[in-house]
Amino acid sequence: MTPLVDTFGRLHDNLRLSVTDRCNIRCFYCMPEKDVKFQPREQLLTFEEIERFVRVAVNLGIRKLRITGGEPLVRKNLSTLVRKLAAIDGIEDLALTTNGVLLAEQAEELYDAGLRRINVHLDTLDRERFQQITRRDELDKVLEGIETARRLGYGPIKINAVAVKNLVEPDIVPLARYGRERGIEIRYIEFMPLDAQGLWERGRVLLAEDILAMLEREIGPLVEVPDSDPRAPATEYRFADGIGGVGLIASVSRPFCLNCNRIRLTSDGKLRYCLFAIEETDVRALLRGSDGDDAVAGAIRASVAAKWIGHEINSARFVPPPRPMYSIGG
Ligand code: 5AD
Ligand code: SF4
Repeated sequence: MTPLVDTFGRLHDNLRLSVTDRCNIRCFYCMPEKDVKFQPREQLLTFEEIERFVRVAVNLGIRKLRITGGEPLVRKNLSTLVRKLAAIDGIEDLALTTNGVLLAEQAEELYDAGLRRINVHLDTLDRERFQQITRRDELDKVLEGIETARRLGYGPIKINAVAVKNLVEPDIVPLARYGRERGIEIRYIEFMPLDAQGLWERGRVLLAEDILAMLEREIGPLVEVPDSDPRAPATEYRFADGIGGVGLIASVSRPFCLNCNRIRLTSDGKLRYCLFAIEETDVRALLRGSDGDDAVAGAIRASVAAKWIGHEINSARFVPPPRPMYSIGG
């Protein structure tokens, strides 16, 4: 079986699965405040369809899976899907990205189903700014969710914080301290042009280098970790005092497209070779048609073969993708 290598020599072994485009909060850099148009439920892939797709993908060399949304925990009976996916031979890494609001309720069930690795999306420890960013008052639930996950033994737990300039500067250091105290890596992600309202501007990106400078000034020197996985988007740093570390995802100032190993399946069954892709492949039609697994495998191969070199956020030609973040899954 030839592996999934694209025309730029990049090996693809990582699949991000969005299981819903719905969400229970409304982060402004992702969703509009109201009148969000979600997929009708019958458009969503069923758990059986997702499992079948993943099995085909694993046969082609996919080894890492991440479940995303919208907010994946709003998908009914998610643990049933996790159990199915955790049982697939060949999956070496199964992880989930959540906003944490429903985590306290579901962490145990998900752990029992085989999940061990989670990323929680949290930008601030300040209740008012949390409300300003997410338009909901759920900070306490998120923090409770993180504590529940720690107690159950999830690991590693990471926190994703979106770095928006003139907004989250006061949160950078408190988040890092919170992580240091708990053995949680905070990963700061440069704000990308994926929001549903077109609010993104280059001037609103809080740059990775500025974040590093703030952390070093307020907490202490950071040492870059020699890259263990050169294909991971985050550059990792440890605090020189030996207590904890942070990750920086410089998607705008230092694009990592050349190391990209990912493909993405949306909740309505469209295959995307890039977060920013304009074209997508309708896998749902294949899964619901009579062509069998070979057709699905062929579609995955064709999508990887068609993959472009990378996004052009930094070029005047940049065109934002036709879907916003919540319907791609990050
Ligand atoms: N820019 C950067 N990151 C974003 N996320 C959501 N919207 C954006 C954006 N516009 C992040 C969230 C989530 C992950 C899937 O993507 O933090 O954890
Ligand atoms: Fe929901 Fe995640 Fe989008 Fe926030 S970033 S609105 S948590 S899907």
